[in-house]
Amino acid sequence: MSQLVPKPSDTAASRVRTAVLISGTGSNMVALLEAAQAADYPADIQLVISNRPNAKGLAKAEALGVTAICVNHRSFETRAGFEDVLDATLREHDIDFVVCAGFMRVLTSEFVGKWSQKLINIHPSLLPKYKGLHTHQRALEAKDTEHGCTVHWVSEGVDEGEVIAQSSLHIHAEDTADSLAKRVQVLEHGLYPDALRIAVTGR
Ligand code: GRF
Repeated sequence: MSQLVPKPSDTAASRVRTAVLISGTGSNMVALLEAAQAADYPADIQLVISNRPNAKGLAKAEALGVTAICVNHRSFETRAGFEDVLDATLREHDIDFVVCAGFMRVLTSEFVGKWSQKLINIHPSLLPKYKGLHTHQRALEAKDTEHGCTVHWVSEGVDEGEVIAQSSLHIHAEDTADSLAKRVQVLEHGLYPDALRIAVTGR
């Protein structure tokens, strides 16, 4: 009779080897690492890379038992030089999927092409509204009543890739850019683990 229940080692092998790219605090990275602690979560986060040596998220990743590396973009004369080492580091660790979580470097079309359909990002607005920076202030100035965050595939245009999932909230009369930033981050921490699951499984 055939064995239908996968052995634990088979289950681990089928999880997608994933890296998270950060530049700062890493609160989204922590939310992803916590979700990935569940044995049935489809992504196995093996590596965290920061482009900034002082990113607080590096120590948080190490504390959670994940390899954390800095590839300092300032050590390279060109964006291509930085991305070559970023790409090589990902491949040295047999990474199959890359998640940008507060990663504040624009990636070139060459890098995006190498990781096509394997590279996602989170953005603090309801895309296609407010690509780029200062999204909370712009939503307030436009007198929007709704705001939120988006997880999307990374494509050549900044914040332009296909949307995977969004989460929204109502803007209150007393909201400021700071209060919106805090409230949207809470949404992000719930959204990103679900969106990564959808991205790697197609469900
Ligand atoms: C998040 O709000 C994300 O949307 C934006 O940068 C922030 C990163 O925060 N791109 P953290 O480093 O995950 O705490």
